[in-house]
Amino acid sequence: MISTAGFSVMDRQEIFIFSSIGRKALMAVSGAFLGFFLFLHLLGNSATFWGAKAFISYAAGLHSLPVLVLLFEVVLLSFFAIHIVLAAVSFYENLRARPERYSCRKNAGGRTWGSRTMPYTGILILLFIIFHLLAFWGVKPVELAALVRHNLSRPLTALYYLISLTALTLHVSHGFWSLWQSLGLGLRHTDLLRKSSLIISITGGLLFSLIPLLCLLSADFLR
Ligand code: HEM
Repeated sequence: MISTAGFSVMDRQEIFIFSSIGRKALMAVSGAFLGFFLFLHLLGNSATFWGAKAFISYAAGLHSLPVLVLLFEVVLLSFFAIHIVLAAVSFYENLRARPERYSCRKNAGGRTWGSRTMPYTGILILLFIIFHLLAFWGVKPVELAALVRHNLSRPLTALYYLISLTALTLHVSHGFWSLWQSLGLGLRHTDLLRKSSLIISITGGLLFSLIPLLCLLSADFLR
């Protein structure tokens, strides 16, 4: 038994989070938390539909709780980092196991657009978040409504948001499906769960997309 940093190789294999089941569970938990953030963010952003004043008072309310927001951001960032590292590890392992994977996959079935494009939509989402935070993070609440309107009424930025939100919808639709499977629900109500994953992700994607669309097309939006 080889011993490194206090763990033998045997121990390492037995540690839950290093096992493939452990990694799948962590992926599901971190993905679920990121989905929860998206739900809260969508809820907050829907204040834009009630006008600039409503959006600014929502943002001001949020900024009046700095400790809570900071705590949430730390947890969010940690889950985000875990999700990305685990995704990269499993992408790398899949690449290495490619010949065997193909021979299994022939009969496995169940591959969808969402599942096949997970790594690529994931990278698009990561790039989008960096771009998005550079534009909005740390801005004073009173300036946020005008800034959202200013940025998203530019055709190229609006188009970039719409493309990224399509990638997010695809990613989340498969993410939900994986989550149901990790919870052991995938085998019993396959069709219902597949459809519900699609409906939830498309509804969220469309609601987010309404914001750049309205910034682009309506002169009154967020005034
Ligand atoms: C049209 C859609 C969206 C709009 C208008 C929007 C707007 C904003 C605004 C104004 C902020 C700053 C909030 C503040 O400082 O109080 C923000 C923060 C943020 N947004 Fe978005 N957002 C959109 C979609 C998204 C999406 C799809 C994601 C993730 C994929 C995302 C991720 C984030 C993150 C991580 C933060 C930082 C949160 C924090 O610091 O607590 N946003 N967004």
